[in-house]
Amino acid sequence: MKILFLNGPNLNLLGTREPDKYGTENLNDIEIYVKSIAKDMNVEVQFYQSNIEGELVDKIQDAKNKFDAIVMNPAAYTHTSVAIRDAILAVEVPTVEIHLSNIHKREEFRKISLTAPACIGQITGFGKESYKLGLIAVVDYLNKK
Ligand code: DQA
Repeated sequence: MKILFLNGPNLNLLGTREPDKYGTENLNDIEIYVKSIAKDMNVEVQFYQSNIEGELVDKIQDAKNKFDAIVMNPAAYTHTSVAIRDAILAVEVPTVEIHLSNIHKREEFRKISLTAPACIGQITGFGKESYKLGLIAVVDYLNKK
């Protein structure tokens, strides 16, 4: 089983970026954490981060026939990107949306996700554990398919 973890804009700054909201661990720390859990589950995980919407769309398109599923933190594009939503719908690769912070507890504009309706479900507010829970959720989904 191969799972692609996609990370949107500014997540390359995790660790120093608003640590009260996003924690003190950087994306590489989270990647190591997720990969150690994935190894125990016999699952192969690949991480990718981009600040560019089109690059994320390309990665989603490219995931078809290469990955069994996607776990995605679209970051700010969650609230704006019709292109990412359409890409998820187009490729039909099962996708789980994740967020470090609880987007429903924050500003009004963050409560709206354009991407979540294209996904199996959304996990939000558990810090780096959202990444672990995203992995568990998507593997469970694939096993039951
Ligand atoms: C985020 C929440 C988004 O609203 C924000 O733009 C991010 C991070 C999260 O993981 O909590 O960049 O996706």
